[in-house]
Formats: sequence, structure tokens, C-alpha cells
Amino acid sequence: MQDTVILGIETSCDETAAALFRGPEMIHHITATQLVHTSYGGVVPEYASREHNKLLGPVVRGVIEQADMSLSDVEGIAVTQGPGLAGSLLVGLSYAKGLALGLDIPLYGINHIEGHIFANFIGQETLPTPFLCLLVSGGHTQLIHVENARDYTLIGQTRDDAAGEAFDKVARLLGIGYPGGPLIDKMSKQGNSRFHHFPRSSFEGSYDFSFSGLKTNVLQYISKQDSEFIKLHLPDIAASFQEAVVDVLSMQTMKAARDLGHDRIVLAGGVAANSRLRERMVELANEHEKILYQPDMRYCTDNAAMIAYMGYWKAGSQGSDPLDIAAVPNLKLSFGG
Ligand code: KG4
Ligand code: ZN
Repeated sequence: MQDTVILGIETSCDETAAALFRGPEMIHHITATQLVHTSYGGVVPEYASREHNKLLGPVVRGVIEQADMSLSDVEGIAVTQGPGLAGSLLVGLSYAKGLALGLDIPLYGINHIEGHIFANFIGQETLPTPFLCLLVSGGHTQLIHVENARDYTLIGQTRDDAAGEAFDKVARLLGIGYPGGPLIDKMSKQGNSRFHHFPRSSFEGSYDFSFSGLKTNVLQYISKQDSEFIKLHLPDIAASFQEAVVDVLSMQTMKAARDLGHDRIVLAGGVAANSRLRERMVELANEHEKILYQPDMRYCTDNAAMIAYMGYWKAGSQGSDPLDIAAVPNLKLSFGG
């Protein structure tokens, strides 16, 4: 079981990805980012499914060939079951079912969110639970108490936009382009984060977040300036916005860690790739003597390595799934506690 070769497949949004694992170790992975969406300023679901359909075969073949292996070496298939775009999930799931049936090997339906959380521990046979997780992606902003790989408690969450969504929307407002998060991150390196103080949201007695007011603030701020000023200070405005997001995320996380007595903090999701968030969390973790886990940059945004790794865990704990499992576009973590 420990050395089972698992092929992971991820097609929940606009990355077509495959990864090959032996036990908890990655052998090889490929992530093909769909470029078709760039000119639309966001993911077009219909195009995403078509691209997955076109790219998935070559990506899977590529990962197997580059690992110097053959399809018959694969002993299990792990595939994202949700959450994600319905049509995109279906492409990956149907492909995975076909392979599982053809090769007569087990199928593991994986929750994409669990993939993000545990991507921090790829390569490891044990998980340093319990911990507090800040999950920040395009669709999620949540603080989660993770007791173990099946037992989660929601501590706080966004009341409106997700952090990644805020990055993407503000990038669009500023005319920076798509995808917004990485572009704002890059541009902010040239800017002054103290140029303008955007308000930080907070809720008394709660660990919740809110980012839609901040987005409106950026809109109001730029609508009062002339276009020359905005052009000149674009990096400063981007950096000031980013600082506000990072402040809110990091302060709420540290507050929850302190109040709930967590020593370990885990960052997860696409926004965990943000260089300023990573830097700030390292500073705060050192200051408050917390152990901080940040995913390797390769595993922050959507990838199949995290799916294959969850397949390894599922194979060892819960077992395989039937071939009639459905794609679940709004799949959630099951919160107990
Ligand atoms: O986890 P992910 O790849 O997909 C979802 O499951 O949502 O996250 C994508 C989100 C996007 O909103 C993207 O703008 C954001 O993560 N993102 C970043 C950075 N890299 C990706 N946000 C801020 N800074 C980054 N460096
Ligand atoms: Zn994701």
C-alpha cells in the first residue's frame, strides 16, 4: 500500500494537470494552464471544458512518459470530484473512470479543498495535526481547525468575496489584466504599500473576513483620480491594496491561533502563493513562536500533485470509490465540531 503508484488528475477550473506518485512521493507532475481565457479577463466555463478535453490525454501521456513508466504501472487513479466547474470536473472524472475501468484499478474521488490543505505535506507519511489552516483561493477564504484528515471545524470565513476573487476583481478595475493575483503580487514589488491606506474590515467577536468593501474602496479611490495619476501610481495602488488584504488575512489568522491555542498554522490555496502574505506570516509566526507551514510554490495554485497525494491517503484510510461517483461542483469540507 505504501508504495502504490497513483495517477492524480485535476480539471476543476482552468488548469489541466496530471501527477504520478509512488506512495507519498511525487515522481512527476505536469500542469497545463489554459491560455484561452486570458483575453476574456476570466475563466469561460465552456472553453475550460473543451480545453480539458483536448489537453488531458496529452498531459497524462506526458507525465507517464517523462517518468519513464507506462500506463500499466499505474495502480490507482485519484481525481478531483469537486468543487469546481461542472463541465470541467466531468471531463476529468469521465477520463479517470475510463482509465480505472480499462486498467481494472481503484478510483479515488478527491475533494479539491483537502488537496490544497494537505499539499503542504506532499512527500510525508504523517500529518502534523491538529493545526489551524488559512485556506485562501479563488473561491474560498476560510479559517479551519483541522483535527485530522477527516475532521474539520470552521472557525471563520468570508462574508462576501474570497481573497483571490478580490485580487482578480481589483486587477480588472485597475486594468492590470488576468489572472489578477500573480500580476498584483508582481507589480506590488515596485510599489509603496503605504501610499494609500485602504480600510481593513473586522467583525467584533468573530474570525470572519470581508473583501467586497475593500474592492469598492479601490473603485471609489481611483474614480477620484485622473488617468495620468493612476498610470503613474499603479504599483503603489496595487501594493496598498495588497497590504490591506494581507493585513486582514494575517491578523485574523494570528488572532484565531492565539485565542484557540494553536501552535501550528498552515497556509493553503492559490493566494498562499502571494509573496507579501508569505513574508508577513513568517514574521508573525516568528514573533509569536508559531510553527508555520506554507506550501511549496508549485503546489499553491491548482495542480494534480495534491490530488495524487490525497489519493495516497484515501487508499490507506477510506478505500476506493465506485465508478458511478458524480462530479459535485459545490462540494464542501464536511464540518463537524
Ligand atoms: O487555488 P486556486 O489556484 O484555484 C481555486 O481553487 O480557486 O486559486 C486561484 C486564486 C486566483 O484568484 C488567483 O488570483 C489567486 O489564487 N492567486 C494569487 C497569487 N497567485 C494566485 N493571489 C495573490 N497573489 C498571488 N501570487
Ligand atoms: Zn484550487
